Amino acid sequence: MEAKKVADSVTIMTEMIMPNDTNPIGNLMGGNLLRWMDVAGGICAGKHCEKYVVTASVDHVSFQRPIHLGDVITIKAMVTRAFNTSVEIYVEVYAANVKGKDDRLCNSAYFTFVAVDDEKKKPTKVPPVLALSSEEQDKYDSALRRREVRLILSKRMKPEEALNLKEFFQVNG
Ligand SMILES: CC(C)(COP(=O)(O)OP(=O)(O)OC[C@H]1O[C@@H](n2cnc3c(N)ncnc32)[C@H](O)[C@@H]1OP(=O)(O)O)[C@@H](O)C(=O)NCCC(=O)NCCS
Repeated sequence: MEAKKVADSVTIMTEMIMPNDTNPIGNLMGGNLLRWMDVAGGICAGKHCEKYVVTASVDHVSFQRPIHLGDVITIKAMVTRAFNTSVEIYVEVYAANVKGKDDRLCNSAYFTFVAVDDEKKKPTKVPPVLALSSEEQDKYDSALRRREVRLILSKRMKPEEALNLKEFFQVNG
């Protein structure tokens, strides 16, 4: 399968925060933001894989800064690395006011999507990622460790099998 560039599937989504999207104190509801991040990530993963995809996991998300009613958010999703049937997608969210001022990074998360066949049942192979820039290469390299963490947490891998994590802590610890 031919490797595909990160840029080929970068997905950018913009939303204005409306009253229906907010919590009782007038800020964007966390669940609504997660939904949009999942949509942007899923579109990006689908474009990279050229397949139907399902969300397999979402890594740690923290809501660092509130997003207010009337703000405009920009969600950017990029593929970081492909494995066998899954891809890791990095999603980040910026918010600004309606005049385009006070632009700020509000949160980010890594999503894992699994490509499935046309009957939407069986996981199916995905194309590799071609990382070109240094930022793409950094995310590509560190993806192996993040994968091990999430596979351990979902009980799909034993901690002693996590070779990349072990090596990382030996070098950096
Ligand atoms: C994700 C899903 C397709 C995996 O099916 P499965 O039978 O466990 O398939 P496999 O064991 O062959 O794993 C397939 C891939 O999923 C990855 N995966 C499965 N669970 C994972 C998790 N919790 N975190 C990260 N990756 C995961 C595996 O590592 C594997 O990736 P790889 O092939 O690149 O190594 C299945 O669990 C599913 O359909 N889940 C529901 C998805 C969904 O409906 N999402 C929307 C939210 S409700």
